[in-house]
Amino acid sequence: MVLVEQPLPDHFRGFAAVVERDGGTTYPAICRAVAEDDEVLSLLDGAPLPQRRPLLLLAAVHFLLLSGVEHALASHYDTVAEVRGIPLDRTGDVTVAFAAFCRTHRPELAELIATRTTQTNEVGRCTALLPGLCHLASLYGWAEPLALLDLGTSAGLNLLFDDYSYTYRAAVGDGTRRAGAAGSAVALDCSSREDVEHLPELRLPPVAARVGLDLSPVDPFSDDAARWLLACQWPDNLARFGRLRAALANVRVSPDPPRLERGDMVNDLERIAGTIPGDGPLVVFHSWVAAYLDEAQQRTLAREVRALGRTRPVHHLYCESPFETPGLPTPPSPVPREGPDLATVLVHIGPGGAPVRLADTHPHGYWIRWWPANT
Ligand SMILES: C[S@@+](CC[C@H](N)C(=O)[O-])C[C@H]1O[C@@H](n2cnc3c(N)ncnc32)[C@H](O)[C@@H]1O
Repeated sequence: MVLVEQPLPDHFRGFAAVVERDGGTTYPAICRAVAEDDEVLSLLDGAPLPQRRPLLLLAAVHFLLLSGVEHALASHYDTVAEVRGIPLDRTGDVTVAFAAFCRTHRPELAELIATRTTQTNEVGRCTALLPGLCHLASLYGWAEPLALLDLGTSAGLNLLFDDYSYTYRAAVGDGTRRAGAAGSAVALDCSSREDVEHLPELRLPPVAARVGLDLSPVDPFSDDAARWLLACQWPDNLARFGRLRAALANVRVSPDPPRLERGDMVNDLERIAGTIPGDGPLVVFHSWVAAYLDEAQQRTLAREVRALGRTRPVHHLYCESPFETPGLPTPPSPVPREGPDLATVLVHIGPGGAPVRLADTHPHGYWIRWWPANT
């Protein structure tokens, strides 16, 4: 991941613009006020350098509010109001309430900022993962269970993709396709930029193993870790917050929770892959993580995944931003890029095969463009 060195106030202003583009309103207002407030900004002095970013401070405040700390700021956050069952009240100025909260709770915030790192686990990306895995399962006539290894797995929530329900709506025409576990509390909606008939057959592939590898895995069974993961989300996007909450609740009652391992996705890949029993197909997948590697490491990753194919059929499936992963063998887009969307691409490299660009997708899975040649 390329870290752009810039003054902290500019970082807050830039973050405000990003969240605004995503439809948020609470954080943009707060971030623009924090950019002018040296006392609040100084809270981030205690963060390790790569973590000196707006989201760390915002998440620390959100975490304390979700934990039950009483303050007027609580009633400005939709998420906190929902979790704590308190009424929303936005009559005061949220930026004044935020600064007051930071002054009153400075010691607790300083401790969180010094010891935590921002984290995400975006289950919305399963709207790309599901058709990708269906494509692979169909290569085996749906008969071979797939062993799954998720690199940069976070809390491992995407390894339970088959517990979620999916609705794909055609952006062109009025087609709809539903898949997955009907009635699941984790309900994922995705717009298909082509007709939905372009998508592959969507049924749940049999799964032989679910293993996740992460430098700092998030234990979804820990209340503290789960709350921190929730705190890293925007407080006014209830839909996204709600589905993460539902996915965290789901893993806790799962009869087959993923096995999470701590380690590096390049250096520990072979060791962890070696712990997955069987000689059936192994799918090594990753989403929104290869950007943390530099270009040379990305090349090494692609090579190392291919090398695992010495002992069993290995499929490399990834959903990454092509702009941040020049070391991955992503084929170019079949059509010139349209519009301003920042897309991620879903790529598959089968045993001995060339990379195939299966789809372009929204980074959080809100839309997909499945390239028709792949069905
Ligand atoms: C942006 S999150 C994405 C999480 C998940 N893949 C998803 O799509 O929701 C990136 C994750 O990659 C992990 N990570 C970063 N560098 C890593 C590395 N070299 N090896 C393993 N995990 C890494 C982080 O700890 C974090 O959990």
